[in-house]
Amino acid sequence: MCGIVGYVGHREAGSIVIEGLSRLEYRGYDSAGLAVHRGPGVFETVRSLGATAELTRQAKEEGFELGGRVAIGHTRWATHGAPSVRNAHPHISYNGRIALVHNGIIENHAELRREMEAEGASPSWWLSDTDTETLAHWIEHCRPRGGSLLDAVRLALGEVVGAYAVLILDVPTGELIAARRSSPLAIGIGNFEVFIASDAIPIVEHVQDIIYLDDGDIVQVEPRGANEVPNVRLFNLAEEGQVERQAVRVELKVEELGRGGHETFMMKEVCEQPVTVRDCLRGRLTPGDSPIALGGLEAAWPHLLRARRIHIVACGTSWHAGLIGKHLIETLTRIPCEVDYASEFRYRDPIVGPGDVVLAISQSGETADTRAALELALERGATPVGVVNVVGSSISRLAGCGIYTRSGVEIGVASTKAFTGQVTALVLLALGMAHSLGTLDRGAYEELKAELDTVPDKIAEVLENLGPVLAAADAHTSARDWLFLGRGVSFPVALEGALKLKEISYAHAEAYPAGEMKHGPIALVEPTCPTVFVLPGDVHYEKSLSNLQEVLARSGPVVAIVTRGNRELPEGVGHVIEVPTTHELLSPLLTVVPLQVLAHRVASNRDCNVDRPRNLAKSVTVE
Ligand code: M6R
Repeated sequence: MCGIVGYVGHREAGSIVIEGLSRLEYRGYDSAGLAVHRGPGVFETVRSLGATAELTRQAKEEGFELGGRVAIGHTRWATHGAPSVRNAHPHISYNGRIALVHNGIIENHAELRREMEAEGASPSWWLSDTDTETLAHWIEHCRPRGGSLLDAVRLALGEVVGAYAVLILDVPTGELIAARRSSPLAIGIGNFEVFIASDAIPIVEHVQDIIYLDDGDIVQVEPRGANEVPNVRLFNLAEEGQVERQAVRVELKVEELGRGGHETFMMKEVCEQPVTVRDCLRGRLTPGDSPIALGGLEAAWPHLLRARRIHIVACGTSWHAGLIGKHLIETLTRIPCEVDYASEFRYRDPIVGPGDVVLAISQSGETADTRAALELALERGATPVGVVNVVGSSISRLAGCGIYTRSGVEIGVASTKAFTGQVTALVLLALGMAHSLGTLDRGAYEELKAELDTVPDKIAEVLENLGPVLAAADAHTSARDWLFLGRGVSFPVALEGALKLKEISYAHAEAYPAGEMKHGPIALVEPTCPTVFVLPGDVHYEKSLSNLQEVLARSGPVVAIVTRGNRELPEGVGHVIEVPTTHELLSPLLTVVPLQVLAHRVASNRDCNVDRPRNLAKSVTVE
């Protein structure tokens, strides 16, 4: 969701914050804003619709000076109030004493407003439709007579219901206060300067040692002289006195944050998959009969092997990876596995407790619903495990153990390399468990491992032969509706293909298990509705082929993703896209790649903003 950046130091604060915001745009990009502290009691703001480039343009047009030693900024994904300059952050308290940027939702904002109005607040205080503005007024409303901002923030946040990462600029002094609950916030302390941001990305080009704040943490940063380190003090709402937090080294190269010559971040990330899948396997996929090396799972391993049931919780693309994980776990270990949308799991009073393992899958590690589902599982005594990409993220810390997918920074809103990283991690998990449990005979174990080792090269082969994918996309660019069908592990791949297409091209796409087609979706089949069949040469092939015939018989155009050398396809299939042969359980790692490229091409042909699709944000930190 929204991205926030703050800076206290000796450099041009406004420029550093704008540059940081541009790195966070994947979190939201409907409007942006900046406040720069000019000196005691003096600050200025600039706000614009659109992303940071617009903010920079607006600042230039207004002659807004970026110089100053303290600044805060925000890039917004609207929750309360439409995207508009009026609703863009920072918001200012009624008395002009604080400027505030916020990521999250203040659930009891209406109640807080009522309370303030009952005590004399004027409706004219409110200049926007946001919950954030109410928080700014509320903090000042709570400031005890003569009290410090820190006291006010402590009192105010004690009454707040909801999720927040906030940065508050104290106008009289230039002090910054940062606080978080359920929304991420990281802090980096450099040479005489302090950076605060929604994640490590805007910080790492300045400092590599990052402190990820815990829930309830409050940070106070007091600017001092130009050659002095600002005073940084950490507190927690639940504790008296100061607290300490350990910094972690974040190994992130600035080059990783660029498009690397590709037209979009998404295409760069699609093309990185041979490398990212290899990185996920490195050091874990051991040779021969030796066990899979998953050091991060040591503590949970006995629980995994004895698990009564494994519950996978996730959202979106990660949920699709979870569906594949269920196939892998059940097939290879015979342990029952359920997959839930995290947003459903957390509210359906799930039957989960000691003896169960709850596996949370998340690229960002910050998805609010997935995190809440994991919290619930922990409360009920289940063993938590994370499959997460972002190191140090909330879900990885909450789980305490798991598998990092090592996919690198994913900036395109449409998840691609994170998906193949998740599936690879789940293959390793299921294989490792099967080896320990003895549910897979030695020959089959070694064969599957050897085949897994070839997957990165096979993904590269898929990427070298994209002609038929692009032709299929070009032929159907104007289609309004699409169907995606598959059976077994290819059904989640079909779901993922449909999600990719709809989120970046805005075409309507639905996915079903191919066997379900006759129970309703076949009514959609007509010459203008392409059906994409994911039918690698597996046990389901013949059945899927019959479904394909049924579509052709109704004049539906067909795009078929098949295993190379497949000659049994009937005439009339418009587009045949081949992927190399592999083990059935590994086929999603190959068949999903053409679907990512198909969606990308259709979206580009339709002049859609592939990396920043409308209404979406990369990291969904509100429920
Ligand atoms: O960061 P997470 O993996 O937890 O995110 C889950 C979903 O929000 C995410 O996969 C979303 O569906 C993507 N936009 C899909 O491309």
